[in-house]
Amino acid sequence: MIKEYPEVGEEYQKAVDKAKRKLRGLIAEKSCAPFMLRLAWHSAGTYECISETGGPFGTMRLAAELAHKANTGLDIAVRLLEPLKEQFPTLTYADFYQLAGIVAVEITSGPEIPFHPGREDKLKPPPEGRLPNANKGADHLRAVFCGAMGLSERDIVALSGGHTLGRCHKERSGFEGPWTNNPLIFDNSYFKELLIGETEGLLKLKTDLSLLSDPVFRPFVETYAADEDQFFDDYAEAHMKLSELGFPDA
Ligand code: HEM
Repeated sequence: MIKEYPEVGEEYQKAVDKAKRKLRGLIAEKSCAPFMLRLAWHSAGTYECISETGGPFGTMRLAAELAHKANTGLDIAVRLLEPLKEQFPTLTYADFYQLAGIVAVEITSGPEIPFHPGREDKLKPPPEGRLPNANKGADHLRAVFCGAMGLSERDIVALSGGHTLGRCHKERSGFEGPWTNNPLIFDNSYFKELLIGETEGLLKLKTDLSLLSDPVFRPFVETYAADEDQFFDDYAEAHMKLSELGFPDA
């Protein structure tokens, strides 16, 4: 199905292009690419197909959603973006947060992800509890990503590679440490580390390990560890789908 994106007009597109340039500067200056990717993902990953609620519609700006347990710490990311967002009053938060996620991947040397503007800001945050639980396994990942969001099994593995960036913080999630030795570089090292097994100082959540033990997920892990170009192609496609869940409106 070919999506028909809304016409945003020349002025809006100009503001998007300028915001993208400014976001590159801010994210590089603050070294906060992982944080911005997590913000964009947690904004979009609440989408539920059946009820057509949740998703990348700017509701993370609201205190109610920031208070969800899974979003601990993201108030800092929202605050970091606020002075820049104020320079672009015409842009929606919905577009701005997704643009920040795409820029985060790009400036850490990850793939370019197409960005289509025109998301609306909604007023109602999704109910708490839609994002995946790190202590569960493959069935849970399928229920959340395929069942609720409508993404594919390949998308699950490719998107999990987002953990090539960043780390866990004890005070935020209770877990501690990075997944790779270069958490500010977007590459395929997350998958290489998964296949190596235990490496001192590096982390594996139960959900990460389920990618190894599940017979459908594992071949994708092996492909992405061996072929970074393939990972980048599949990641870019999956990230774009994630950033456009529920958009444009049916
Ligand atoms: C598959 C299910 C997933 C689970 C269970 C999960 C779980 C977690 C947890 C527990 C943290 C640590 C938060 C903290 O303590 O600061 C984290 C961080 C992070 N997640 Fe995920 N995640 C998942 C999927 C994703 C996806 C799909 C992406 C992006 C495409 C992503 C991107 C990130 C990033 C970039 C960080 C690091 C944030 C930072 O360094 O501040 N995660 N994730």
